[in-house]
This record gives sequence, structure tokens and C-alpha cells, in this order.
Amino acid sequence: MTADLNASTDEARRRIDTRLGELMPQALPGQPELAAALRDGVLTPGKRLRPLMTLFAAEELGGAREPAIDAGCAVEMIHAASLILDDLPCMDNALLRRGLPAVHAGHGEDLALLVSVAAISHAYGLLAGIEPLSAQARIDCVVILTQAVGVGGLVGGQFADLRGGRHKRPATEISAANGMKTGSLFIAAAEIGAVVAGADAETRARLRQFADELGHAFQLIDDLLDHGTNPLVIGKDVGKDSGKSTLISLVGRASVQQRIERHLDAADLGLTRIFGPRSRLHWLVETMLAQAQPAAPVQDRTTHGLPEEVGAR
Ligand code: IPE
Ligand code: IPE
Ligand code: MG
Ligand code: MG
Ligand code: MG
Repeated sequence: MTADLNASTDEARRRIDTRLGELMPQALPGQPELAAALRDGVLTPGKRLRPLMTLFAAEELGGAREPAIDAGCAVEMIHAASLILDDLPCMDNALLRRGLPAVHAGHGEDLALLVSVAAISHAYGLLAGIEPLSAQARIDCVVILTQAVGVGGLVGGQFADLRGGRHKRPATEISAANGMKTGSLFIAAAEIGAVVAGADAETRARLRQFADELGHAFQLIDDLLDHGTNPLVIGKDVGKDSGKSTLISLVGRASVQQRIERHLDAADLGLTRIFGPRSRLHWLVETMLAQAQPAAPVQDRTTHGLPEEVGAR
């Protein structure tokens, strides 16, 4: 990856962060802790992979930057809400998120639940009101996000992960859960970018396929990091998958690494069919491929354009 591409990604991430900060309430009269919890839940430093996907997909297809950033911010709000819920004691019971106390640990479970609802609600309101987009495009974006969140997406995937993960299950079932809990929002991020750009149905379908492959690879990399990584380095609790039926527990780390490479190859091929051999979305695939290398020391990943990923911000 060229230095130019790194710089352009960093700049895009800064724009997304700035816009997210503008979109979340600065203060709520008489309710400062609600505003603080909401801002903590959404604005703490993440990699912003999903809004970057939305932005890159839109721009590569000729779409305008500002509506793509707003649409990406809506996807990021949903992602943030999913993390706030995922960390709750009744789910993964995690205390650290993005190098900081999880929202329930810092502000209480009651506020964690409330701000996740607020962030989801904010996301839909934002998408529905992106002025330069046609009414149909805005409806399409809302529908795509609804499908990503619902029982066929995040909610169904978390349920399968939490309850199905308690007993041994076949690889196909684990993969399906990963696709729902993680792939669904990757798919929405990419397709919403295509909608912002006014892309045709075939391009949208191809982008969905690409993002599905990327989402599978991403969750498997995340599962690999759950074991043997320093929580201070990745900024979140580790060992949370222990005792859960994952692909790692079923087929082992080496086999999971091969699966990751197959998913990333498929993602790369899918992108090349849409954009030719070079696009800013290829950067995401290359970044993940670098992360999936078993021999790479954790610190080396900072050279692939994701300093935030190691909690450096
Ligand atoms: C974490 O997602 C949740 C998973 C789907 C594994 P990210 O690793 O993208 O989290 P942030 O946004 O960078 O904190
Ligand atoms: C979470 O998967 C996926 C979500 C949709 C929230 P994990 O539970 O593995 O994510 P982390 O490791 O806590 O970020
Ligand atoms: Mg979880
Ligand atoms: Mg978790
Ligand atoms: Mg995990």
C-alpha cells in the first residue's frame, strides 16, 4: 500500500471522527451523564472500518463525500450500540472497550442500555434525513440497515452466538452466526455506500458478496486475537470466547487461518470484478491479510495503516 493511500485513509478517518462528534449531542440540559455516556459509547476511538467502507464504496463509484460520510456515521452508530450491548454482564461481561472502561462499567448498566437505544435511533434518523440523497435512496439505506440489525442480522447473530455457542455446533452453524453478528453490518456498510453513489442492482449485489467475505475474515481474525493477546494492546478484554464453540475450538487456529485467507482471497476477487485490481477497498483486504499472518508480532500491524487497532489513540 502506498503512503498516499495511508494518508488518504487517515484523513478520511479524521473526517468521520469529526462528523461523528458533531452528530452526537454535545450536552443534554439537566442530563449531563446521559450525554457523556452516549458520547463515550459512540466517540471512543475505534478503527471506523465500517464508515470507511461506506465512504470508499461510495467514492469509488463516483458518489459525493459528505452524504457518504453521514451514511457511514449512521452505520458506525449501530456498530457502537452493538458493542455497548455486547459488553454487558448478561452478554460477554467485558470491562474494557477501545482501551477505556466499557460503557456499563463507566456509567452503569441502565445507561448502557439507554444509550445503545439512543445510538440506534439516532442512526435511523440520520439516514432518513441525508438531504442530498433522493427519498428512494434514503428509504433504501434505512431498509438495508434495518435488515442488518434485526433477527436476520446483529440480533439473530448475537442470539446464536450467546445461546448456540454454549454447545458444540457444526462449522456451518458457527459460520452462519458469524455472518449474522458481524458480516451483516459490513454488508450494510458497503451496500449503503453503493446506494449513496446511485449504483445499479448488480454492483450492489457484488459489493454485498465482497463485504460478506470480508466480514467472515474479520470475525475469525477477531476470534484469533481473543486468545494470547495483551488486552492493553488490543484495548478490550480477551479470553471472552473461552468455553464457547467457535471455529477455533472446532478446527484449530491453523485451519482458521486458512479460512481467513480463503475469505480474503474471495473478497479481493469480488472487488477486482467491480473496480479492477486497485481500489481503496482493496486496502481493507490487504490490511486484514496483514493482520491474519500468524508470525507477525502485534506491533507490526501498526505499519498497515491501523494505529488505532492497537489502542494507540
Ligand atoms: C469489534 O469490531 C466487534 C467485532 C465485530 C469483532 P471492531 O474491531 O471494528 O471494533 P472497533 O470499532 O475498532 O472498536
Ligand atoms: C461481537 O463479537 C460482534 C458484535 C456484533 C458486537 P465479539 O463479542 O467477538 O466482539 P468483541 O471481541 O467483544 O469486540
Ligand atoms: Mg460477543
Ligand atoms: Mg464481545
Ligand atoms: Mg471477539
